[in-house]
Amino acid sequence: MRRVLVLNGPNLDLLGVREPEIYGRTSLAALADTVWTWGRELGFDVEHFQSNHEGELVERVHDAAQRFDGIVLNAGALTHYSFSLHDALAAVEVPAIEVHISNVRAREPWRRRSVISAACVASIYGRGIPGYRWALLHLRNRDATPIETIPYGEKRDQKIDVRRPTSPGPSAPLAVIVHGGLWRQEWTSDTTETWAVELTRRGWITANVEYRRLGSGGGWPESFVDVTAAFGVAATLPGVDPQRLHAIGHSAGATMALWSAGQTGAVRPTNVTSVAGITDLVRARAEGLGDGAVASIEGRRRPRPEEASPRHRLPTGVAVTLVSCLADTLVDPSYATDYAFAARQAGDQVELLELETTHGAVLDPLEPALGAVIDSLAPSQHA
Ligand code: DQA
Repeated sequence: MRRVLVLNGPNLDLLGVREPEIYGRTSLAALADTVWTWGRELGFDVEHFQSNHEGELVERVHDAAQRFDGIVLNAGALTHYSFSLHDALAAVEVPAIEVHISNVRAREPWRRRSVISAACVASIYGRGIPGYRWALLHLRNRDATPIETIPYGEKRDQKIDVRRPTSPGPSAPLAVIVHGGLWRQEWTSDTTETWAVELTRRGWITANVEYRRLGSGGGWPESFVDVTAAFGVAATLPGVDPQRLHAIGHSAGATMALWSAGQTGAVRPTNVTSVAGITDLVRARAEGLGDGAVASIEGRRRPRPEEASPRHRLPTGVAVTLVSCLADTLVDPSYATDYAFAARQAGDQVELLELETTHGAVLDPLEPALGAVIDSLAPSQHA
């Protein structure tokens, strides 16, 4: 079993009692137990260590070189000034993932700087304790298949992670994957990586898209334009079958995948799969979905419905599969059925797949719903 070292830094021994409105009520002992269990489920043997002393953490990182396949590190405040920890991480060959329970980008300005992130393969923050699980999942997925990261623009977030099947034929179908997260900084393309790994295993070329989000130049229309641009670059990758250009999005990512389908003049998908998609931005804005997520992306000018909202841009002429999660408490299943009805009325080809699952379970490799989503694109040989 692969081994992961989970390191927690200064003041994390006070978890549960320390500023619970920011860090929650879970104690460090409970956190260590939970992370150990998550590790077992995901195929990792987890060892946990906490210290309030920089030198002790540095030494643990040194020791990890021989003994561990990955490090998950919440360095606490050392994140913001410990060059020794940066250098220790840079010195060892073990991939490290930086984790923060709170959203360090949305707090005091000094917390926005991380001097260790350059020595880490990923940074996960603002997702609470489950952030540690996302870190384990990322370690698992980055080991599964080789990844080539390709820029599609000049900004840091304008990039796609391309994975290729191990024994490709002359051409392969393409899946361009667009993550959700209500356009917020803390939700990144690691959340849809399991889809990429599974589809690649089934012979697809996959492009998992990152795009600008709120706080890094994203919102309306920049995030949407980024997704369309990423699609255009992915569609011209060598070995891609031009007849099978799929876009698959989750939640707000599905909004943008559907939007790209309606974007004349751009390279468009042949098929779109919307999983728990926010198909109607007019309704989502009126309902205040996700703490006012739609209003928050509008910036200086509120777009007209037919500019931004997929439900108001029909028909697209592109075949769409709508996956609706019947236990979704964020995006009501009627977002899928309403879109399906309107799109059929407008003449589009639409399929509806209803799953007894939640908004997030479709992203989890241990949940059958994820397999059902993948099967809907790429039926398994063994099914
Ligand atoms: C923290 C964020 C740091 O800024 C802070 O100093 C901590 C905890 C987090 O998990 O959110 O101690 O790393």
